[in-house]
Amino acid sequence: MRAIEQVSAMQAWSREARRRDGARIALVPTMGALHDGHLSLVEIARRHADVVVTSVFVNPMQFDRADDFARYPRDLEHDGGLLAAAGVDVLFAPDAKEMYPDAAETVVTVDRLSEPLCGAHRPGHFRGVATVVLKLFNIVQPHVAVFGEKDYQQLALIRRMVRDLHLDIDVVGAPIVREADGLAMSSRNRHLDRDERAAATCLARALGAAEECVAAGERDAAAIVAAATAELAREPRARVEYVAAVHPETLRPLVRLRQLTVPAVHRERRSA
Ligand code: PAF
Repeated sequence: MRAIEQVSAMQAWSREARRRDGARIALVPTMGALHDGHLSLVEIARRHADVVVTSVFVNPMQFDRADDFARYPRDLEHDGGLLAAAGVDVLFAPDAKEMYPDAAETVVTVDRLSEPLCGAHRPGHFRGVATVVLKLFNIVQPHVAVFGEKDYQQLALIRRMVRDLHLDIDVVGAPIVREADGLAMSSRNRHLDRDERAAATCLARALGAAEECVAAGERDAAAIVAAATAELAREPRARVEYVAAVHPETLRPLVRLRQLTVPAVHRERRSA
């Protein structure tokens, strides 16, 4: 596996891979502190391309709190070992000066999709995500990019950015990878102490309650949201920011689930 830190060197590598080898390039963007969820993205990327580039960059622009940025887990050496073992071709790990050499005057905002849900609780977060992802697309020049469905709003917003800006990149959504007790794998899980870790499983139980409700024939969005909210209320440590039933592409709130259409992300997964 080749490790690259400079933007110009990464661009040159991709240019050459496309020109000389006609290679199809996949990008898996990450912020490091890798776990099996990230490795599943690499595995999916491999199926869509000849070479896989994984970026590891803790993007300061997407953190709305300095203390959160400072304590975000970082372990590049360990990440490099995991990526090499997973057969990644290039690890792109720039520092912040390389990615943001000047005080930028150009940022990317995906207007409406950035506002609700997580966007309402993390001001500026999705502007930071969209801006860094477009930078990574311009640097790595991938044909395909893989993002986890765990950060569903992020995935919807990147799909929309790619569509709005006519980027010639296929965005592939990857299924959530969960621990045995249902908790979605996340780099931030390592911040949880024992009690918090146990309490966090209420998220999977809440989703399970909503799923059961739908399976039993319920189509009223408020009733489905109420089932999930009631499950969260059983966990005294949980502080709920939002529970919502939304359209999978527009993220607009639903009144009724009209028909259980399979969202685009799931269709892609099946055909991958
Ligand atoms: O999902 C993440 O890890 C980050 O938001 C991303 C896409 C790598 C952008 O910094």
